[in-house]
Parts: sequence; structure tokens; C-alpha cells
Amino acid sequence: MLDDVAKKLKSRQNRPPRRKARVDVPSVRRAYARWAPVYDRVFGTGFRAGRAAAIAYINELPPGRVLECGVGTGISLPAYRDGHRITGMDVSPDMLEIARERVARDRLANVDALDEADAAALPYADESFDISVAMFVITVVPEVAPVMSELIRVTKPGGRVVFVSHFSDQRGWRKTFGEALAPLSASLGWHTDFTIDRIMGYPRLRHVETRRIGPLGFFSLVVFERV
Ligand SMILES: C[S@@+](CC[C@H](N)C(=O)[O-])C[C@H]1O[C@@H](n2cnc3c(N)ncnc32)[C@H](O)[C@@H]1O
Repeated sequence: MLDDVAKKLKSRQNRPPRRKARVDVPSVRRAYARWAPVYDRVFGTGFRAGRAAAIAYINELPPGRVLECGVGTGISLPAYRDGHRITGMDVSPDMLEIARERVARDRLANVDALDEADAAALPYADESFDISVAMFVITVVPEVAPVMSELIRVTKPGGRVVFVSHFSDQRGWRKTFGEALAPLSASLGWHTDFTIDRIMGYPRLRHVETRRIGPLGFFSLVVFERV
């Protein structure tokens, strides 16, 4: 029996390394085409505390133009205070279709637009928003640096760039918990090894605060000032 185990381990060692799933815009679109019809039911509650913290922070800010990057099904749209004017964008037409239905059904008059676009190439002029927010998006996008640059570019100096996501921990129970959720996360295109330092240190972004969210602190709200 020990021989069998040793043989198995040996054959595993000799196996070529498993290729990492390629995350690009078409594969993100394909993944969210499958998720769109059930997204709110599956991820509505689990991510609620994170979204609520980001929107509560934004609703305390003076009325302004808000860009919601990766707006998805528009699940957060009804929560913005009336004074804010919201532009949502997402790369998935299937998620946006549900967001558009929501805007019509709930008569959300403060939503100016829902645009299909890649966050790495935003179709907006420089410094057009007072606030940019990405909820559960930055750990999903194929490439982080171009998205960070675009969010910086379209946000006005003095404005806020807000993120909420699960960032992977290097140790402790959150690391274990994160690893247990890996299969579900992977199906969302979520990079499970995404640490918070990957959004730190960008020029023209001053870190304002990082706050753990929810009783378990599994998600983090991260706020920057665009300088
Ligand atoms: C986990 S969902 C989060 C949706 C929503 N923000 C929420 O709070 O539930 C991630 C969203 O990011 C979008 N996304 C992924 N990559 C993107 C990209 N490069 N540009 C724009 N949206 C992207 C997906 O289509 C999806 O709607």
C-alpha cells in the first residue's frame, strides 16, 4: 500500500504544472453571462455588508458625479442618495441588461448612464467624476494597473476613489477561509491571491483609510483621495 502511495506521489511530481486559467475580457464576459441570471440570488446577501459600507461612505460625501465601475446587475444603484448622479459601466452585456431592467423598474432617476466598456479603457473624459467606486471588481479584472490608471484619470483632483473587496490574507483564519472559498471565487474570475498592496502606492492617489467590514472583517473598504 505504501508503495502505491509513493507511486502516486511520484507520478504527481512528474506531472507538468497545471496551466493557470487565462483571465481576459472575453472569458470575463463568458463567466458573467452564466452568472447574470442568478447573480443577485447567489451574491446579493454575501457581499451586502461590503456594498453597504462603500455606499454609506459615498452618501456622506457632497452630491456629485459618481462612476460605479463594474456595476454588474446594478444591485447597489437604489442605495445612492438622490443628490448623486450615477454612471455605471461594466464589460458584461448580460449583467448590464439586468441593471437596465432594475433602473426602469425602480425608476432610478439619478442614474445617468449604464455603459458597456472595459475598465482598462474607460470611455470618459479626464477628471469627469467626483467619486469612482469599484465594489468586488478590482480583484476580478484581468489586469489591475490599467484599471487603477483609468480610475485615477477620470476622477477629479480632491475626489475619492473607493474600493471594496476581499483581499487575500497572508496568514491566519482569513487565509484558510479564503482558500476554502477558492472554487466559488475562481468561477467569478476572482484572483484569490490578490493582496491589498496591489492597489497601494499609485501616483496621484493618497490613501485615506482601510476599514475591515462585517463581523468577520472578511472584506475591506479602501478609500483614496485623488490628488
Ligand atoms: C463580482 S462582480 C461585482 C458586481 C457588483 N459590483 C457587485 O457589487 O455585486 C464583478 C463585475 O466586474 C465586471 N468586470 C470584470 N472585469 C471587468 C472589466 N475589465 N471592465 C469592466 N467590468 C469588469 C464583471 O462583468 C462583473 O459584473
